[in-house]
Amino acid sequence: MPVNLSGRNFLKLLDFNTAEIRYLLDLAKNFKDLKRVGTPHRYLAGKNIVLLFEKTSTRTRCSFEVAGMDLGMGVTYLDPGSSQMGKKESIRDTAKVLGRMYDGIEYRGFSQKLVEELADNAGVPVWNGLTDDFHPTQMLADLLTIEEKKGRLSGLHFTYFGDARNNMGNSLMVACAKMGIHFTACAPETLFPAPELVETCRQLAMQSGGSVTLTEDVHAGAANADVIYTDIWVSMGEPDSVWESRIRSLQPYQVNRKIMEFAKPDAIFMHCLPSFHDTETTIGREIEQKFGLCEMEVSDEVFNGPQSVVFDQAENRMHTIKAVLYATLR
Ligand code: CP
Ligand code: NVA
Repeated sequence: MPVNLSGRNFLKLLDFNTAEIRYLLDLAKNFKDLKRVGTPHRYLAGKNIVLLFEKTSTRTRCSFEVAGMDLGMGVTYLDPGSSQMGKKESIRDTAKVLGRMYDGIEYRGFSQKLVEELADNAGVPVWNGLTDDFHPTQMLADLLTIEEKKGRLSGLHFTYFGDARNNMGNSLMVACAKMGIHFTACAPETLFPAPELVETCRQLAMQSGGSVTLTEDVHAGAANADVIYTDIWVSMGEPDSVWESRIRSLQPYQVNRKIMEFAKPDAIFMHCLPSFHDTETTIGREIEQKFGLCEMEVSDEVFNGPQSVVFDQAENRMHTIKAVLYATLR
């Protein structure tokens, strides 16, 4: 069956089957090649998109902007606090207004319910640029990066260390389950993903040839891994008051040289970024002063080491988002 995603929303990977995800990855590879050789690809000239951010961003915003402009589109960016949405105008009304002006809407914000409501009312494709629950555009970049580095997806062993019930933990479990990757969440039990989502992913993994494992044991979690992945310990939107307990529970799950040595010798290290691997940020310095920690979810040595592919991931955000824009707006 040929894949046609024209007019579709991109709200979470659960809404897409394996063939559709495969199609988006192949499309992204084509766009990456076109960009490399400098072939113009203004296939969506004459269209306009709006990027609505209720949380801050570097990669997602810039990827949507560059991808949109490379495809020939007009791009409007609305930063956190600069639109009427939420304070003076409901999501529903905002969706109806923006849907009359733009051909597509990107939304980064809080609950998944909000982006779903936006999509229900906009009448044009809506793309999720991160919610508290899911970060689907990041997944395409991560899958593309893994495939570039390992030559395949199916059958690989992938371990995620850290807060396994945040947007990244949830999304990576879904992405692996869809693509036949053996997924392990290595975290304290209190930070395991929700049982219903685990069950859904186990069902998906049965069809794709993957699996889903949850463990508190860092050695067992890292053993035999082809990919080691982590994310920050406190996500956007969470109060500063959770830092202390999160550090206490996640410190044993820091990805450092010892963890990488448990994994396969040719394992790669991945992170969606931004990362607290040193004290060169305001928050990094505050945490050092308060808790005496100079590196958090990943050691600086691993982050900057030869196994790290984090900047390839970051670049692939743009190529994969371009694929999503093209596939849904063509
Ligand atoms: N990985 C990611 O989404 O980065 P930004 O928060 O900078 O967009
Ligand atoms: N879990 C992180 C991901 C950032 C890309 C957050 O939500 O802040």
